[in-house]
Parts: sequence; C-alpha cells; structure tokens
Amino acid sequence: MTAPIALFFGTRPQVIKASVLREALAATGPVVAVDTGQHYDYSMHQVHYDQLGVQAPDAFLGVGSGSHAEQTAAILTACESWLAAHPVRAAVVIGDTNTTMACALAAAKRRIPIAHVEAGLRAADRLMAEEINRRVTDAVAHWLFAPCGRVAAVLRQEHPEAVVAEVGDVAHDVLVRALPQAPAPEAIPGYDAGWRGRFVYATLHRAELVDVPARLGPVIEALSGSPLPVLLAAHPRTAVALERLGIRLGAMVHRIQPVGYLQSLTLTQAAAVVVTDSGGLQREAYWLGRPCVTVRGETEWVETVELGANRLLPPEQADQLASAITAAANDGREWDRGAYGDGNAAARIAALLAPSP
Ligand code: UD1
Repeated sequence: MTAPIALFFGTRPQVIKASVLREALAATGPVVAVDTGQHYDYSMHQVHYDQLGVQAPDAFLGVGSGSHAEQTAAILTACESWLAAHPVRAAVVIGDTNTTMACALAAAKRRIPIAHVEAGLRAADRLMAEEINRRVTDAVAHWLFAPCGRVAAVLRQEHPEAVVAEVGDVAHDVLVRALPQAPAPEAIPGYDAGWRGRFVYATLHRAELVDVPARLGPVIEALSGSPLPVLLAAHPRTAVALERLGIRLGAMVHRIQPVGYLQSLTLTQAAAVVVTDSGGLQREAYWLGRPCVTVRGETEWVETVELGANRLLPPEQADQLASAITAAANDGREWDRGAYGDGNAAARIAALLAPSP
C-alpha cells in the first residue's frame, strides 16, 4: 500500500490554504493533515476550519508560541517525533512561517522528500523571519511550486537540482471557492453601513513594523488622520504592542478582533482601500479589484505593484499615508487579475505529487 503524503500547516494563512490542498491531494492518494498549532486563538485558527468546512487535522502538535528559537525548536522536535511514528512518502509545507521551515527541516533530516508550496518569493531584507524561513525551506525541498513565471525563473537559477513548477497561487483557489459564501458587510461587527464602502480595511502584523515603536506609532497616527474611516482588524501581536506602548487610536480608527477569512474577503471587497503589511491581503485586494497600500518598503508580490493594484509606502514615510489613501481611493483603474494563475493551483500540485501507478 502507498504510504500517505503529509501536509503540514499551523498558522492562520496556512489553515486557509491547506483546506484546498488537502482535498486536492486526497483525490490522488492518501494524505495526512498535521496542524502544528503555531496559531491557537479561536479568531486566528479554529474559525478558519469552521468557515471553510475543514475536517479536524489527523494530528495536532499543539506547539503554541514562544520566541522564534523556542517556537521553531518546539515544532522541529514535535514534527520529528511525529514523523518517526508515521511513515510518509513526502512532506508538503506552505509559505514562509516558522511552521514551514521547522517541518521542512524535520522531514529533510529524515530524508523525506519535501514539496514547498509558495516557493521562491524573495525580499531584499535577508534577515526578516519570513525570508529566512522560505530560503531555508527552498534549500531543502525537492519540489518547488511557484505562484508565477517570474518566481519559477528565480527558482530554476537558484535550485537547478530541484523540480520547479509554475502552478499558480493556492490562495487564489481558496478565494474563488469561498467568495460566494462571504457575508454582507452589515453582518460584520464594527462595520458601519453609513460608510457605504467609503472606508479603509486595515491589518498590520509583521514584527518589523509592529514590534518597532518608531514605526508602529507613526503608522497608527497616520491612520488616525485618514481621510476615510479605518476598520483595523488587529492581530494579537498588534493588540499587545498597542497596549504595551500605550498607543491611542484616533476617532477615525475602529479597532476590531481578527476577523474570519470570509469576513476578511467581505471587508476587502467592500472597502475603498486596503492598508496592510500582509502578503495574503495584498493578493486578495488585487484579485477583488480593490486598491491596496502596503506599509512596507518592498513586496514579494511585485506584479501587484507593476499592474497598478498596489502601492508601497515604507513605515518611515507614514506622514504620506493619508495622501496615499486618497490617491488609491480616487484611482479607479482596472487591472489584469491573472498574474498568479487561474484558481487551479492545488489540483496542479496534487497531479505533480501523485503516487506513481
Ligand atoms: C506568523 C508568521 C507570518 C504569517 C503570520 C500570519 C512566522 C515567523 N510568522 O506571524 O509569516 O504571515 O503568522 O498571521 O511564522 N498569538 C496569539 N494567538 C494566536 C497566535 C499568535 O496571541 O493564535 C500571539 C503569539 O503569542 C505571539 C504573536 O501573536 O506573541 C505572534 O505570533 P507568531 O506565531 O509568533 O507569529 P505571527 O506574527 O502570527
């Protein structure tokens, strides 16, 4: 009998992407789903299982948080023990989190072939946590699944030893399927029907922004002076930082808990502008035709900027955020939405990983 393929995930965006990958992999052979438990709050984790109708994982490693070293070490150890007890023919990891890298390393040390979904994205900041995670993962993976041709070309140069395939973006697959179930904006606590779509949907979570008071303070101040009301869905890291630093939100900023995936799609689609540092939200805004201001000096999703959907604003230039929001809100341009595949990435990945007959 063919050994199963293992699918590892553990953070909010990975639970979402794993939903389609698990189903596609299951259509070609046995699959076991392993949730590391890196994210654990209901609003960061279980809500996505519930909304996307995802079955409970086959294994839950319950690692929780800690410093980067503690978290990575906990996942590495737990994943190694799990792999020692459960023979698998390959390990699939997604994206660029501590879960991605630690599960890839645990599998590599056991000589289990690794497939990296969302491989090859690169930032100039080589020491950003996510950048370390994806470079290390790409270095040990056998299959590198790229979301677009530009990224596949980078990977072929960097890793001639690996199997590189341009498959599209699994996040697009999820969006296409889930969009019909997205609720009306009026059903989302914190949304004001009187805004009539003239609002900003904002999320901030990256350590490089949130954990640096000299960046977070001015960005929040700029949001407080936004020309449009701002709905800020605060990630736990952001909530803690705001509390710790005693940063007050201006009257224009309405803070809410992290929202579920479906609510996030609704708010993105309903907003005049999205302001974020999230890679996922940059693409979702791009697919849904909403202009985005990314509060970073760079993006891994360069096509969104080249096509006019996304503009970069480094936190150091937070004083220009209000004018960037106005410019984005008044832009009105349409763009080609096909940069990252056609919504069938998971099926392509599953076909490439299918057990030989
Ligand atoms: C992680 C990923 C990032 C991804 C993001 C999506 C890494 C290095 N980073 O960042 O690439 O874009 O997830 O959200 O893996 N916390 C809670 N409840 C939770 C989860 C986290 O309170 O359910 C707290 C943790 O205690 C920690 C902080 O939030 O203090 C950050 O969590 P962590 O898992 O370290 O990274 P993220 O910022 O979520």
